[in-house]
Amino acid sequence: MTIATTSAGPLGADALSRLASVAAFEEAARARLAPMAYAYYAGGAGAERTLSRNAEAWSRLLVWYRVMVDVSRRSTATTLFGRPIAAPLLVAPTALHKMACDEGEIATVRACGAVGVPMVVSSLSTTRLEDVCAQATGPVLFQLYIGQDRPFVRDLAQRAESAGCVAIELTVDTPVWGLREREQRTGFRVPDGMGVVNLYRDGHAGPTGHSGVGIGQALGWTIDASLSWRDLEWLCAQTKLPVLVKGVCRADDARHALASGAAGVVVSNHGGRQLDGAPATAEALPHVVDAVAGRAPVLVDGGIRGGTDILRALALGAAAVQVGRPLLWGLAVGGEAGARRVLELLMEDLSRSMALAGCADVASVTRDLLSP
Ligand code: FNR
Ligand code: LAC
Repeated sequence: MTIATTSAGPLGADALSRLASVAAFEEAARARLAPMAYAYYAGGAGAERTLSRNAEAWSRLLVWYRVMVDVSRRSTATTLFGRPIAAPLLVAPTALHKMACDEGEIATVRACGAVGVPMVVSSLSTTRLEDVCAQATGPVLFQLYIGQDRPFVRDLAQRAESAGCVAIELTVDTPVWGLREREQRTGFRVPDGMGVVNLYRDGHAGPTGHSGVGIGQALGWTIDASLSWRDLEWLCAQTKLPVLVKGVCRADDARHALASGAAGVVVSNHGGRQLDGAPATAEALPHVVDAVAGRAPVLVDGGIRGGTDILRALALGAAAVQVGRPLLWGLAVGGEAGARRVLELLMEDLSRSMALAGCADVASVTRDLLSP
């Protein structure tokens, strides 16, 4: 029997309100999660250099704030694919939310709905996509991994459409899994009583489902390592939904993505979990923004831990950011209420950073804030 959480229950509203930063949430989550679950969520690939570089690179960017701007009324609101969202913030696709709290992805989608930001549901969610969408009061996107069985992938894309998703994020930085030492050390397995239900056939895990150590082994399901731009063209032809390509760091790849039918690009290195040695996303973002040249939205994730990081990403030209681990810490500490508190904290902090930088709205967050 694999146990994911310790006996400590979720924190109440008072205790949650005393956690004032993502770092405080992480500390509280670490104390509540079983070592195996914490290791899976927190870990990166190899020596975790790219993992730490992601956060460091944002903090190295100095914000040359403006003064004497009326910021008494300000708004973090923006739009994505023509839909209004409360802030340029999405919940990144992360696997296995039931390992953080019993309600899993249902808690996440409700928290997102409550604050008005989109959720990207992972292919590897522990709740069926349709059940997540049924609880949504705001936009939901579906993250797709392409396995070898293309008819099954086409069905997944069609399920996303039928369930009411507004877009698909195709993850492309994962032809094979990164080397996850922490998973090996803690003997990571998918805990008993949960599974990657979207990938079940006839309601069941495959013959090797959920056995073996490490995420790749544990899933009993593999990504097709032969993926190429032609597969993106194929996917775009299977669905009416806009397809964003997630996991790009280079200008030429961003141009390829658009030429192959993508409606947007997500600059990401999978939270430092794939190629250790990849640039931080803050370093990659300007190259991709220049290559895309306003033709499509560019999103970014990796190491976003506060409002000033969101401000920095917008200043570099991102349309919005995604957060992965911060949301998992919220779930682990307080379920839906914890996840909601983390999102509110980031949004309040963005509003504060905008005020301090002399920006009354998202449109006034421009590149000169980083290089006057
Ligand atoms: C991920 N990420 C991820 N990405 C994806 O496309 N599909 C997935 O199922 C997952 N699963 C996943 C699990 C866990 C535990 C983590 C930490 C990350 C990557 C994720 O979408 C995102 O790129 C990073 O998490 C962003 O970095 P931060 O915000 O965690 O630093
Ligand atoms: C991970 C996968 C599930 O990073 O994307 O663990």
